[in-house]
Amino acid sequence: MNIDAVTLTNRVAAIFQSAGSRAGEAECVARHLVEANLVGHDSHGVIRVPAYVDWLRSGKVLANQQLRVVSENGPVIVCDGGCGFGQVMGEAAMELATKQGKAHGLAIVALRNSGHLGRIGDWAVMAAEAGLVSLHFVNTNGGGILVAPFGGKERRLSANPIAAGVPVAGGRPIVLDISTCTIAEGKIKVAYNKGERVPDGCLLDANGQPTNDPVAFYANPPGAILPLGGHKGYALGVIVEVLAGALTGGGCSHPGVDRVVNNMLTIVADPAAFGPGEAFARDVRQFLEHVRTCPPAQEGGEILLPGEPEERTRAQRLAEGIPLDERTRSQLDDVAHSLGVAG
Ligand SMILES: NC(=O)c1ccc[n+]([C@@H]2O[C@H](COP(=O)([O-])OP(=O)(O)OC[C@H]3O[C@@H](n4cnc5c(N)ncnc54)[C@H](O)[C@@H]3O)[C@@H](O)[C@H]2O)c1
Repeated sequence: MNIDAVTLTNRVAAIFQSAGSRAGEAECVARHLVEANLVGHDSHGVIRVPAYVDWLRSGKVLANQQLRVVSENGPVIVCDGGCGFGQVMGEAAMELATKQGKAHGLAIVALRNSGHLGRIGDWAVMAAEAGLVSLHFVNTNGGGILVAPFGGKERRLSANPIAAGVPVAGGRPIVLDISTCTIAEGKIKVAYNKGERVPDGCLLDANGQPTNDPVAFYANPPGAILPLGGHKGYALGVIVEVLAGALTGGGCSHPGVDRVVNNMLTIVADPAAFGPGEAFARDVRQFLEHVRTCPPAQEGGEILLPGEPEERTRAQRLAEGIPLDERTRSQLDDVAHSLGVAG
């Protein structure tokens, strides 16, 4: 049975409010989690609620924090999320980036010490809706070490997602939103909850042997996720650690950290600062048309643009509701019950 987005958002917001968030924060966290479900990234949707509430209870994420600007130096703004909810910190950081990007054509916002930022594509969409091109590099500073280096068998890097957004005149933005490993950890959790296996080539068990079994990944000693595309994804992951970790001041992945914080380096650029905005818009539109009209390799196939699968899933789930597996549903019910949230 599917659940509609508004009902789910209200329920999740009620959970966070009972757990200590003010109404605005609870709504913001709920809205972003449900948005991830709507666009089909269930790994970063409401499946996260039990962990977020645990983190609140144990002080690993702090309720009702505000983004603090640490320094401003030309186009560079450094901010600290104070271990507050990533959804709130992400929105606030993007508001700063957008304002600065619009005013000066370019902004680089370093967000350190934020709670989990969820689906990074949200931040690219936010910039694109303001007419800006954006790039986002995200790591954890050690609370989310999951990925083996190319050729290695133990975890050393975090999932290190990269997102990018491009506004498209008269259409939906192009949105790239990928981790630099073969599979996002949340997707392994979704498979674990459903009792399913993950695709070939994603995981190693603790002995460095390929496995499809999420249980082997979460075992003690644990398995590891493989980097995306062998050495290339590994190399990208290393660069993301440095940009998101060392450059923001939030830190690269180091052992011995038990709190999941995300750091994000965001670069936004206003196409109008580079030349006539219309020329940019026209070139992008023509290029997209050139790509989209490529004959499909297989009969009945089609060419999609980055961001399009999410747009389609969003339209479908807005109309038909969000499918939630039994385990995720009952975990949500358990958390709600433990906080005295009715329903
Ligand atoms: N907060 C964190 O620390 C963190 C860490 C890792 C991942 N994540 C999030 O996890 C989510 C999932 O990441 P992932 O690596 O599994 O992503 P994924 O492998 O599902 O790839 C998604 C990207 O590929 C594009 N895409 C998919 N199919 C396509 C097609 N047929 N044609 C064109 N483009 C297509 C999508 O539009 C999107 O940009 C993302 O939202 C990411 O931000 C967050």
